[in-house]
Amino acid sequence: MADLRTYLMGLQLQNPIIIGASGLTSMPDGVEKAAHSGVGAIVLKSLFEEQILAVLGQEMAGLDLNGYPDAEAFISRTAWEESTDEYLRLISESKRKAGGVPIIASINCVGQGRWADFARRIEEAGADALELNIAYVPFSPQISGQEIEKKVLSTVKETRSVTKLPIMVKLGNHYSSLPHLVHGLSKEGANAVVLFNRFFRFDFNLNTMRLSGAQPLSSETEYHESLRWTSILYKRVGLEIVSSTGIHNANAAVKCLLAGASAVEVCSIIYKKGWKIVEAIFKDMNILMDSLGYSSLDGLQGKLAAINADRPEEYHRLQYIKALTDIY
Ligand SMILES: Cc1cc2nc3c(=O)[nH]c(=O)nc-3n(C[C@H](O)[C@H](O)[C@H](O)COP(=O)(O)O)c2cc1C
Repeated sequence: MADLRTYLMGLQLQNPIIIGASGLTSMPDGVEKAAHSGVGAIVLKSLFEEQILAVLGQEMAGLDLNGYPDAEAFISRTAWEESTDEYLRLISESKRKAGGVPIIASINCVGQGRWADFARRIEEAGADALELNIAYVPFSPQISGQEIEKKVLSTVKETRSVTKLPIMVKLGNHYSSLPHLVHGLSKEGANAVVLFNRFFRFDFNLNTMRLSGAQPLSSETEYHESLRWTSILYKRVGLEIVSSTGIHNANAAVKCLLAGASAVEVCSIIYKKGWKIVEAIFKDMNILMDSLGYSSLDGLQGKLAAINADRPEEYHRLQYIKALTDIY
């Protein structure tokens, strides 16, 4: 059996498979199942701004706030507290049920406000680390890419100022210079980056003539972007890397580790195949590592990263890789 232990942000993980934030980890029972499956760490479902707004909506239903200028602020405070208290209970319950498997809390922060302060309470509730899923969507033609990046950096800076927890930042893949942004995240005190968040696919339903979500689960062919950027960023940006999206099997997981990932996050494959797939992935990883001549992740991790490439020019001309390898 290969030794699959890995380090991430100073935490020792028994193996590099992390359960990504999702409904699978929205309740302590789900967290317990994840821990029993043998994974190395567990990211809890994110606390979303929308959850707080939903509580706020219920509270405001039927109330006439005209003439009570403080009422809205008060209600907004209670909505905040109700949603966040519930999340803090999830953290402490999950810690109890996870049997020592590290628990990573997750905040989906699209707006600005009290998120950073909340990180302090997450630390007090016992989380081992914090994942910030930062998803600013630039709807306005007035907002430049630089402004979006500044918001991302300031979210991390604010969070770092209130907590000593290891912070990993989960990003989408649509930034114009990912190495520059990720290096900036490292300067603001982040410890790792998750490449990438998978945004819900946008679609229209022609029967209802309304907006709808397309397939929420990834396919096994979607890991390539994560693999590409993991290999480009490894050891260049001062942050550890967790690969994510489309990692459905041992092959994809081992490729991401070879590219330089410290760990990988998986989600869709668990929805598709159930918790038993985790054991199957470990079994296949062992077989694969044995065939490649590795008995542990030492030496394997980063072996195929751009920084270690025999032919760095291939990494600089990635869009031409097919041409370089004579497919055409
Ligand atoms: C049903 C569902 C719920 C999700 N909820 C969250 C969430 O709360 N926070 C988050 O950061 N990502 C969330 N995600 C995204 C996953 O954590 C993951 O990044 C994405 O599914 C890509 O990984 P995969 O290809 O292994 O599924 C969710 C995904 C699914 C399918």
